Amino acid sequence: MKRFLHLPELGNDEVRELLTLAAELERRPRPQALAGKVLGLLFFNPSLRTLASFQSGMARLGGSSFVISPGQGSWQLETRDDVVMDGAAAEHVREAIPVLAGYADALGIRSFASGTDLRADLADATFQALAEVCPVPLINLESAIDHPCQALGDWKTLDEHQVPTRGGRFVLSWAWHPKALPLAVPAAALHMAAQRGMDVTVLRPDGFALPAEIMARAEALAARNGGQVRETTDRREALEGAHVIYAKSWTSPQHYGAAEEEAALRGGLRSWCVEESWFANAAAECRFMHCLPVRREVVVRGSVLDGPRSIVVREAHNRMWVQMAVLHRLLAAPTPMAEAAEAARSASVVNR
Ligand code: CP
Repeated sequence: MKRFLHLPELGNDEVRELLTLAAELERRPRPQALAGKVLGLLFFNPSLRTLASFQSGMARLGGSSFVISPGQGSWQLETRDDVVMDGAAAEHVREAIPVLAGYADALGIRSFASGTDLRADLADATFQALAEVCPVPLINLESAIDHPCQALGDWKTLDEHQVPTRGGRFVLSWAWHPKALPLAVPAAALHMAAQRGMDVTVLRPDGFALPAEIMARAEALAARNGGQVRETTDRREALEGAHVIYAKSWTSPQHYGAAEEEAALRGGLRSWCVEESWFANAAAECRFMHCLPVRREVVVRGSVLDGPRSIVVREAHNRMWVQMAVLHRLLAAPTPMAEAAEAARSASVVNR
């Protein structure tokens, strides 16, 4: 593995290997595995979990890390090409990323959606441009349209709670939020559940249908892995027999970048706050998931978060274990057995 950018780029065998390694690392520490290795973390946007879990995970493997937050103690960075840099940015990513790569064995980059240009965000244009100038192994710490570390941690969490793969009912539900939020987490969660082979329902109000590209990719992943994907505005129908409610707010793709129109549409939807009554016709053991951070009494009632259904803290903890597995695969010296497995995997990809 050279990069970890999008979970569906990995086959399910490779995902399973990462999950097995994550569980091993959780049971039996390997405090020398990455001794002498350095991870550079470039955050264009805020973080609590991603930042702390990568730094902690790298330290637990014997390596170290540094963090750059452009404009907060370091230069503001320009990401656009062909611009006259006479504004706030003192340096372009075309220099800054290769420079940082020279100090690190791998880089992780977080760069959220613009929120103004749906086509560019769906194409992950900014992150792709950053990836092109990164000469070392790269980890996507959340881009405009994906959050693979969250998806992999969520997959581990579902496995731990014995949520079925085939036949497991996963409901990705839109939730109210005062801000127009990106599509990255809903897309990542939807694609993860489809890749896991689950029966996936996207529950959302009118005007918040996910873009066709995101739904088509989910349908292809589900078809390949024995699952299915559908969407509805009917809460009762969506939650019938559900094993998981995964709540997340996202902006209206129909009003992408049109802040006033979008806010007017969203403003009437405060009742989309997950509460216990939502679980009435779900499976008795139905779980509540969210990537965090989450706003209490806005996205979900505090009573649900504090109750036995909620597995949000475990999701966050699993981020660290799966990311340690990713770091190990990217940076640890390969054993002869691992090299043979990698060669076999590459051959099977070429032969497909
Ligand atoms: N879920 C997640 O990525 O959290 P942070 O934004 O705090 O990193």
